[in-house]
Amino acid sequence: MPDPAIYLCLNGPLKVEGPVRLVDHQGKEFNLQGKDTYWVCRCGASGNKPFCDGSHKKNNFKAEQAAR
Ligand code: FES
Repeated sequence: MPDPAIYLCLNGPLKVEGPVRLVDHQGKEFNLQGKDTYWVCRCGASGNKPFCDGSHKKNNFKAEQAAR
């Protein structure tokens, strides 16, 4: 299994490759059902926050940050 990492998808979500726990503002952990990979919305349009539901494509979300 690869080391945990977060990938910035071009014009899309954050791909989280784990295992990485996802915890809300109250300290409660999301049930990821043993998933080692999931996508977190960063466009704000998802109807299933904090997860990406593909809405960024309809909204033409742009994000092209590159590592320096
Ligand atoms: S990044 Fe995919 S719905 Fe927001």
